[in-house]
Amino acid sequence: TYVVTENCIRCKFMDCVEVCPVDCFYAGENMLVINPDECIDCGVCEPECPAEAIFPDSDDRAAAWAETNTTYSKQWPNMTRKGQPPADAEEWKDKPDKAKLFSS
Ligand code: SF4
Ligand code: F3S
Repeated sequence: TYVVTENCIRCKFMDCVEVCPVDCFYAGENMLVINPDECIDCGVCEPECPAEAIFPDSDDRAAAWAETNTTYSKQWPNMTRKGQPPADAEEWKDKPDKAKLFSS
C-alpha cells in the first residue's frame, strides 16, 4: 500500500484523489489518508502530491504513518474529488515537524 505522511498536514492539496483509480483516500480535518485494504499499489498518486507526502509502505518515511492511515481511513469520509485546499497551503509546504499538528 501507499501511505500519506505528515507532509500532507495543513497542505491537503488533494491532487492525489483526482488520480486514484480506486478512490481510496479519506479526509480528516487537515490531512488525508489512504485505506491500505483498498489501495492497489499503482503508485500514480505519489508524484502528483505537491507536498511530497505520499510514500510506498516500503519507504522508511512511511513507517510512522502507516497506522494512522489504517485507523483513520475507517473513520473519515471518503474523498473522490479535489476540493479547495487551505488558503495557506503553500506556506505549510515543506515545513518540518508537522506531526504535532495532526487533528482527527
Ligand atoms: Fe490510489 Fe494508486 Fe495511490 Fe493507492 S497507490 S492510493 S491505488 S493512486
Ligand atoms: Fe495531501 Fe498531497 Fe494529497 S498534500 S491531500 S497527499 S496531494
